[in-house]
Amino acid sequence: MKIALLNGSPKVQNSASGALLEDLKRYITEKADVVNYSLHRPVISETVLEELQKADAWVFAFPLYVDGIPGHLLSCLRQLEKVALQNPNRHIYGIVNLGFYEGIQAEYALQILRNWCVKTGYVWSGGIGVGGGGSLAMMPSAEQGKGPKAPVDKALAVLSDKILKLETCENAYVSVAFPRFLYKMAAQMGWRQCIKQNGGKKKDLGRKL
Ligand SMILES: Cc1cc2nc3c(=O)[nH]c(=O)nc-3n(C[C@H](O)[C@H](O)[C@H](O)COP(=O)(O)O)c2cc1C
Repeated sequence: MKIALLNGSPKVQNSASGALLEDLKRYITEKADVVNYSLHRPVISETVLEELQKADAWVFAFPLYVDGIPGHLLSCLRQLEKVALQNPNRHIYGIVNLGFYEGIQAEYALQILRNWCVKTGYVWSGGIGVGGGGSLAMMPSAEQGKGPKAPVDKALAVLSDKILKLETCENAYVSVAFPRFLYKMAAQMGWRQCIKQNGGKKKDLGRKL
């Protein structure tokens, strides 16, 4: 069985989507032929489109953007619609991560991916929404089932089992095991550092445009 892992973050490095796919890969790599693809840009090359057609399952991992799917990834999905007829039995899974703490915020993005499956004829097979995504790329892969990533890891383990059997599952929503108020404080510190590094001032963070 061939499984394609599709990283739909526009970030080339250090994306939470990439970190989630690496963690998922640990569960499936020895049991299936697993290939990674980067969908960082709005266009997919013909070579990648051809290779993707050989996969039995596509696992999309991407960030939540304005409660939906990033624009460049929507453009990729439009391209992927064109190859849909060649294998309508392909299973589609989604892993959506987001800046807010509550994974349930990913509900609509997963619904969009499910609707896309209805349109293309692919088999929507379920996914997970991961809250606290801002911390994921910074956390090393912990011992399985331990540390702040434990709930995420558990959800990935369940999903990997479904992927390997090409079965469908209900969506699951998780958050990092890190107190919400500390996550928020860390995020606010991160914003302040970020704006300074880019030549702005702290007070500009609240500026209305
Ligand atoms: C343009 C944009 C829109 C975003 N919209 C949301 C949002 O609606 N809700 C949310 O919780 N996070 C939102 N985020 C935060 C990202 O989902 C979050 O930083 C995520 O962890 C990035 O994942 P990545 O590293 O895989 O790209 C947004 C980020 C950007 C840049």
